[in-house]
Amino acid sequence: MLDTAIEAARRAGQAVAEHYPAARNVTVKGYRDVVTEVDYIAERIVLETIRARFPDHTILSEEAGESAPGSRYTWIVDPIDGTTNYSRRLPICSVSVGLLEDDVPIVGAIYDPLRDQMFAAQRGQGAQLDGTPIRASRVETLADAVVGLDWGHADEVRERTLAHVNQVAPWCRTVRALGSAALALAYVAAGWLDVYFNLGMKPWDTAAGTVLVAEAGGRITTPAGAPYRVDIPECLATNGLIHDQILFRLRERARAYQQEGQ
Ligand code: IPD
Ligand code: CA
Ligand code: CA
Repeated sequence: MLDTAIEAARRAGQAVAEHYPAARNVTVKGYRDVVTEVDYIAERIVLETIRARFPDHTILSEEAGESAPGSRYTWIVDPIDGTTNYSRRLPICSVSVGLLEDDVPIVGAIYDPLRDQMFAAQRGQGAQLDGTPIRASRVETLADAVVGLDWGHADEVRERTLAHVNQVAPWCRTVRALGSAALALAYVAAGWLDVYFNLGMKPWDTAAGTVLVAEAGGRITTPAGAPYRVDIPECLATNGLIHDQILFRLRERARAYQQEGQ
């Protein structure tokens, strides 16, 4: 299953990279949300690759929706994570292929087609970048932490994201917004980011990344500290060592917010 995830992500990513120099055909599909014809091309490649091996498995994919429901295995696919970047030629995007077994993420492959980097993990087997084991960072204090985030689309999500940024940015090394949630989670797994949070996640943004972060020794919860599931939009991923410090800062924000409302 890991081999299939890797092959599907790589084959789709090769198409993404091949089309990168060409003109974009960009369609608006929602509020602050676009899709390109390459999203559909990449998606078709991923779905064909999975279906050829596992025709009975359920697949949930961002553009195509759900197919073959009812299996205990569900593949979760984001054919291009970072479509806004891709459509603007900002060279940060990924193909994300995750697999759940009875709702538990067990396999994840996140491929960066523009750097030819394959991040992959299987539950209990560790995480790898191009076949070499990776670990989350050893940064222990928030003051040294490089924090990633993304903004989501909805106004309300952005307002709350800003409040979270206000609570973290004054205390950390710096903050980055890359525009590909899946790739940012892979970067937490690789130790390149120490923290990543996003309040507007979809299952296809996180399914593969959760396996990578956990297998690299990191930790994922909601920003309130509750257990994370891929159907929860709010996600906080860290190297594990600074998780409680971030939760403390975010809880301070929640307390202040509650007091303001009283
Ligand atoms: C988006 C990216 C972005 C995140 C958005 C997602 P897409 O995915 O992951 O980083 O902030 O919420 O929708 O639309 O490019 O697949
Ligand atoms: Ca996405
Ligand atoms: Ca996408």
